[in-house]
Amino acid sequence: MESNRIEKTKKETLDRKNAEAMLGGGEKRIAAQHKKGKLTARERISVLMDEGSFEEIGRFVLHRSKDFGLDKEHYLGDGVVTGYGKVNGRLTYVYAQDFTVFGGSLSETHAEKICKIMDMALKNGAPIVGLNDSGGARIQEGVLSLAGYADIFYKNTLASGVIPQLSAIMGPCAGGAVYSPAITDFILMVENTSYMFVTGPNVVKTVTHEEITSEELGGAMTHASKSGVTHFVAENEIECLLSIKKLLSYMPQNCVDEPSLWPYTLADESRTLLDTIIPENPNQPYDMREVIGQIVDEGSFHEVHEHFAENIVVGFSRIAGRSVGIVANQPAVLAGVLDIHASQKAARFVRFCDSFNIPLLVLEDVPGFLPGSDQEWNGIITNGAKLLYAFCEATVPRITVITRKAYGGAYDVMNSKHIGADLNFAWPSAEIAVMGASGAAEIIFKREIAQAENPSEKLAEKVEEYTNKFANPFRAAHRGYVDEVIYPSQTREKLIRAFEMLENKVAHLPKKKHGNIPL
Ligand code: HXC
Repeated sequence: MESNRIEKTKKETLDRKNAEAMLGGGEKRIAAQHKKGKLTARERISVLMDEGSFEEIGRFVLHRSKDFGLDKEHYLGDGVVTGYGKVNGRLTYVYAQDFTVFGGSLSETHAEKICKIMDMALKNGAPIVGLNDSGGARIQEGVLSLAGYADIFYKNTLASGVIPQLSAIMGPCAGGAVYSPAITDFILMVENTSYMFVTGPNVVKTVTHEEITSEELGGAMTHASKSGVTHFVAENEIECLLSIKKLLSYMPQNCVDEPSLWPYTLADESRTLLDTIIPENPNQPYDMREVIGQIVDEGSFHEVHEHFAENIVVGFSRIAGRSVGIVANQPAVLAGVLDIHASQKAARFVRFCDSFNIPLLVLEDVPGFLPGSDQEWNGIITNGAKLLYAFCEATVPRITVITRKAYGGAYDVMNSKHIGADLNFAWPSAEIAVMGASGAAEIIFKREIAQAENPSEKLAEKVEEYTNKFANPFRAAHRGYVDEVIYPSQTREKLIRAFEMLENKVAHLPKKKHGNIPL
């Protein structure tokens, strides 16, 4: 009887502690969180993880500091819920900061909990998702908190390229705290309830006298369209969490794993719409997203960085069930020209795909690099080189389809055969040349045109001569720089066969510590 009573008391203690931990900073603060349109850390995890799969680690951890009243106020879990579970049926680690406990601020022990599951994720080779909602360093803890951040940054860096790391920003993320998400592979933000900045509006006002709101300075759309810091923007938290699930579905578990192959039964894979997609006038734009839509498995395109550098489109998709990363010039925006932001955007995406064995498909229609002092002074040379470097070092299967223009240096950069593409297809509308025909004719026939009786007639004649010679894919195909000139409607079936043919590709880079990508 006596021992049964003790057992019962112990169980009641555990029940009580579990219930206490579930409440985080208490009901009042949970209500305040909901009032802001935000979910709690535990609610977020339950949306993200497959039902009933979450296992918590470190539920009863308490902070150690005693300064500034911390000896009197303790919350089980110390402001972050950590653990593992399944997303889309696959092992995934997660940490979710709990704003109801000291504003989700990061203490020594809070950081230790995050580091513990980062170590586990790395050891066991599975993705880690961080759900950030924090007032930053726990102010009462001083340098202990700064040390905790540094430990996380260091582990983020070690894990980079080994396991996928995703960061959702679901509340404040300010000061040095921004650098953990920045090191991870993808950032997702929620409109109106999340913001990221190194220094907030008050500091900005004091230092520069600029008056700006948090949303304008570092809200979701700001970072999605102006800085490119965030890759995805969601209207609300549920959309953000579902977007993480979708994103993970294209990725392998780690850098020695392969993305999962979705079941797919081959049918009629020709897409006749593609035969009429290129306008007759080569200077008329068209939407490359429509081309993508015809090539990939229906509805499988998941665009990354949709609102940033829209002159290039990047994203994940599936082709006959196989994960593929797409990099595509967008003729509908700035004629698809490559500029600083487009180069940065595409380079980072290429490197992610290459790190995680996701084959690359390039759809090319590029008139060259954007001219101008703004581009030159801000480093189009270094930034364009990033994209070139990223393609050159990529060892995953790589295929290019030239739909129309492939001009100048951009021809080389956009995954040409010369820098390691495995297969290069061109549509009959392809124009592979140093530059557009009229620019070229004006330069090389300058004297002849000037001396002609009718200069504009002469120019037209020379433009036609240059067009006939170079504004087609056949010169490149004669040399083998283009492997095959294909009918647009055949593109999807060609790609299905080609990616299947390349699935066991093995390519090695020279042994080195690491390369020195132009940063
Ligand atoms: C300890 C904090 C805290 C922090 C918030 N709280 N931030 N406690 N350390 N950093 C506590 C508050 O005291 C409050 O406690 C609760 O969290 C909620 O905060 P509120 O201010 O009531 O919420 P809200 O009005 O929504 O404002 C959120 C906020 C604001 C904008 C984040 O709290 C704020 O400005 N906090 C300070 C941010 C900051 O300066 N952090 C340090 C940045 S430097 P109660 O008990 O009332 O619920 C940094 C360096 C990192 O992070 C360097 C890494 C290298």
